[in-house]
Amino acid sequence: MQRIRLTLEGRKDSSYDLLIGRGILSSLHREIQRLGSFSFYGLVTDEVVRPLVAEPLLEELKSYGIKTALFTLPAGEATKTMDTVVDLCHELTTLSFDRKSLLIAVGGGVIGDITGFAAAIYMRGIRYIQVPTTLLAQVDSAIGGKTGVDLPSGKNLLGAFHQPLLVLADPDVLGTLPPDAMRDGFAEIIKSALIGQPKLFSILEMEGANLLNADNPMLENIIADACSVKCRVVSQDELEAGLRRILNFGHTLGHALEAASNYKISHGHAVAAGMGAAVQFSRQWAGLTSDEADRALSLIRKLGLPTELPADVDVNSLLVALERDKKIQAGICHFVLISKIGQAIIHPISVEDLRQSLTQIQGFRDSGIQGFQ
Ligand SMILES: NC(=O)c1ccc[n+]([C@@H]2O[C@H](COP(=O)([O-])OP(=O)(O)OC[C@H]3O[C@@H](n4cnc5c(N)ncnc54)[C@H](O)[C@@H]3O)[C@@H](O)[C@H]2O)c1
Ligand SMILES: [Zn+2]
Repeated sequence: MQRIRLTLEGRKDSSYDLLIGRGILSSLHREIQRLGSFSFYGLVTDEVVRPLVAEPLLEELKSYGIKTALFTLPAGEATKTMDTVVDLCHELTTLSFDRKSLLIAVGGGVIGDITGFAAAIYMRGIRYIQVPTTLLAQVDSAIGGKTGVDLPSGKNLLGAFHQPLLVLADPDVLGTLPPDAMRDGFAEIIKSALIGQPKLFSILEMEGANLLNADNPMLENIIADACSVKCRVVSQDELEAGLRRILNFGHTLGHALEAASNYKISHGHAVAAGMGAAVQFSRQWAGLTSDEADRALSLIRKLGLPTELPADVDVNSLLVALERDKKIQAGICHFVLISKIGQAIIHPISVEDLRQSLTQIQGFRDSGIQGFQ
């Protein structure tokens, strides 16, 4: 088991532990007790995770005589709305949850984001902990306190920073994840290695596709290494005033690709393709050597992820999506690039250079729209 302390700069009272280990969920009750006493526990989960992880946890907490309720939401991104949060908060009032109650998010990023947001606003803020059950949630969304929901006009447009009291990540729960969801998680792990952990990169390179097997004994350390990159960044820049932006490596184009594909491409796969382009830009503008660029691209492919933007998404629709996402300002887009494996920088790229480069590296045909700003 690994314990990583996330210490927020200037806010030591809000620091918290990430516990990562096989079988760690059996310590949930003990770990909660170390945090203090609570009037009521509310486990929030989705219908897929409920029988796999949430019900056994519910039984265990109840066996200690602890007052616990289970809230089950439909699975999937469509659930991440304000309506869901309002309904959940309404149920909390019906059961008399008060300011001393604790919410426990048991699920992937969708459940974590909803639960964290409900905890941020219910009675002006109650405490919550994260029990992430997807690889993506274990290495990314459960850490750092970004919570929120989607609006019809865009993803994650309503939200709050609200840090959990604890994150418990158990790799044993990943055995039931579909292979594509495992790959999505690895996109974020590769990102962490590329922006801040050369040692993790070498381990990933050595192990390759073997890591997609949830039983792989290396997985626990790999999750912990990826978490430590995110913790290091978040601890210095909780509210994303600067450094935290490096976590967006591959995400600028990744988000544009998700939007341009109408969310048919999953987040991790879109981020992988975005990292593929960012690696090429890094070679062009950030001094990344061809050898390191090739190693980065080959690792992404080894884990079954794409490095190229799909041919049916044209350059112009990506630029439109970047513009809509406010990523282009005064004709400039700020990209996270890597100057070497493990070292991220922010680099401004003009829209014209971006269009030329995308067209060139992906063999896109120029869509012919002139003067895009
Ligand atoms: N808050 C943040 O910092 C942050 C960061 C990255 C992503 N996110 C958000 O996270 C969400 C994506 O997270 P996700 O990929 O975990 O999606 P998800 O929560 O929708 O989970 C994906 C699917 O896997 C299922 N699932 C979960 N655990 C399982 C298990 N152990 N076995 C089998 N199936 C399981 C879920 O029911 C769901 O159908 C997005 O909404 C994204 O915006 C938030
Ligand atoms: Zn991401």
